[in-house]
Amino acid sequence: MTSRRRGLFLTLEGIEGSGKSLQIRRIEAYLKDKGMHCLATREPGGTEFGRALRRVLLHKGSASREPLSELLLYLADRYQHLKEVILPALEQGITVLSDRYHDATRAYQGGARGIAETAIETLALSLDLLEPDGTILLDLEPELGLARARDRNQLQGSSLEEGRFEAEELSFHKAVREAYLRLAGRWPERIRIVQACGTPDEVFSRITPHLEEWITTVLGKGL
Ligand code: TYD
Repeated sequence: MTSRRRGLFLTLEGIEGSGKSLQIRRIEAYLKDKGMHCLATREPGGTEFGRALRRVLLHKGSASREPLSELLLYLADRYQHLKEVILPALEQGITVLSDRYHDATRAYQGGARGIAETAIETLALSLDLLEPDGTILLDLEPELGLARARDRNQLQGSSLEEGRFEAEELSFHKAVREAYLRLAGRWPERIRIVQACGTPDEVFSRITPHLEEWITTVLGKGL
């Protein structure tokens, strides 16, 4: 990145049904209340191009796809998102909150689909992907997360459109969770594990100390 960055770049990660979308709205409201300018976004689908990719990526159709083909589409979505949304916002001093980012690729395409880490990181390096300042990993038993995600999909009537990953075996989701926990072990300063069980209020109260710490250390601004 060439110009000086002034906004905070935060991401939320976790398995299906870990409550990221709900908590991202809470985080956004909390930071706005502190007078910070925030932008909540997500992957895949943070741009118009990305929304078209999202339909292809998550459609529960029968068309076969190679794990590497899937990887390239996630990276295409991310690169467009970074250039069109994330970097311009950060440069304007806006805090960006992204529901998933590159750790999702490391966990799903790497940990669960089995693509070699070197392949993923070589591509990430050539795209000059920015690492977040802080990442909240909402950790939950996959059995519980999947039950929550399936209930939500049924309520939203989206099971046919976006059920690609929910339809995977439990072992797939266990592999995703383990990969996420390994990532947190590797970058303990950046990735904070938050237990995602309990009420939304309980989960949010576990998130706020991390937000306050990042605001203080990264932005050098006390709350
Ligand atoms: P998301 O919209 O967060 O779904 P949910 O709210 O059900 O968790 O993410 C969509 C799916 O895309 C999710 O199953 C994980 C998958 N995904 C990857 O496999 N790799 C990636 O790099 C990203 C960003 C998402």
